[in-house]
Amino acid sequence: MKVSQRCASLTPSLTLALTAKAKALRAQGLDIMSFEAGEPDFDTPEFIKQAAVEDLKAGRTKYTGASGGPEIIEAVRVALKRDYGLEYEASQIIVSVGGKHSLYNVFQALVDSGDEVIVPSPYWLSYPDQIKAAEGVPKIVTCGPEQAFKISPAQLEAAIGPRTVALVLNSPSNPTGAVYSADELLALAAVLRKHPQVAIISDDLYMKLVYKPATFASIAVLAPDLADRTIIVNGWSKAYAMTGWRLGWLAGPKDIVRAMANLQSHATSNVTTFCQRAGALALTSDQGFVDVFAAKFDARRRLLVDGLNAIAGISCAFEPLGAFYAFPDVSALYGRTLGGQKVTGSMEFAAAALETAQVSVVPGVAFGEDRCVRLSYATSEKVIETGLARLKKFAESAS
Ligand SMILES: Cc1ncc(COP(=O)(O)O)c(C=O)c1O
Repeated sequence: MKVSQRCASLTPSLTLALTAKAKALRAQGLDIMSFEAGEPDFDTPEFIKQAAVEDLKAGRTKYTGASGGPEIIEAVRVALKRDYGLEYEASQIIVSVGGKHSLYNVFQALVDSGDEVIVPSPYWLSYPDQIKAAEGVPKIVTCGPEQAFKISPAQLEAAIGPRTVALVLNSPSNPTGAVYSADELLALAAVLRKHPQVAIISDDLYMKLVYKPATFASIAVLAPDLADRTIIVNGWSKAYAMTGWRLGWLAGPKDIVRAMANLQSHATSNVTTFCQRAGALALTSDQGFVDVFAAKFDARRRLLVDGLNAIAGISCAFEPLGAFYAFPDVSALYGRTLGGQKVTGSMEFAAAALETAQVSVVPGVAFGEDRCVRLSYATSEKVIETGLARLKKFAESAS
């Protein structure tokens, strides 16, 4: 059957084969130490779950407005005011099926065939394919560990061309844990000011998971003069341990939000009705429980980063300061033999670590950086300790 060019150009997940292998080994009874997860290991807090159960029982099972009912839209407005100090009207907000869907809406609304979107690399792996799904061209800008995985103003200036329509900023970053400082964002804003055709997509999914001495900074707050071309994307998944609820939100200029609302009204309509009050409650209740999650992640971060740095051949010299990922450079081991396999890149490293040490990590090549691998510390301290001990033995076995 014919497949559209648009869909045929999408790349299958590079990590699929590896994940399938980890699953198969687990099914064989092998005790795999898993560092792959892109989601908190905590359960959604009880009071949030309770609200959804109540609404389901009360029959709140009908359609709402396609961009979300008034309660959840108001909750996003409250969160924007509290967390950013920004005022938005209800018509500037859309609640979608996860931040992923919000981003999909953004690219569909912004990008015409052949338009370019600047994506600093390492990047969250859905950006390039979502841009391609909008018939756009991802303009990948390499930002390695030597520049703390962040795009510089000079790189941004050089990347902007006549077809550039947007820049994606993701801070804290998946996969690197890098956090842009206010000064760094101000310097990028100074470049963007010269190029009025470039929209700014600020993916803030991990904004509440930031560790000292870093603090969260937002270009939407720092450069209010760019508000007419800045779109904030955020959501519930990472901070509230609500990945499976599929709730995300975006806020931006009225015209583009109207276009996205039209698209969503023909694609998915509203997010699940009986999840909406629960989502609103998560956003508007005392945020103390999020701080508890963040403190736990922080302790695990220290354990993992210190442990990785103690392994010869693995370097986590760049300290992740947000999200729940470490992105160490393992390229010192490339060219060596590990577990009987010659390791030449992050795919081979991950495959050998899985087969020989029963440790699963995500190859950095999936995020555009083949020197590194991603380890999530959204897992127990026991898994981190055991995994580190196994990785140490594995790295020491290199010949
Ligand atoms: C950087 C980033 N943005 C957006 C998302 C989308 O998350 P969700 O669709 O669960 O809200 C993710 C999820 O992994 C992410 O890491």
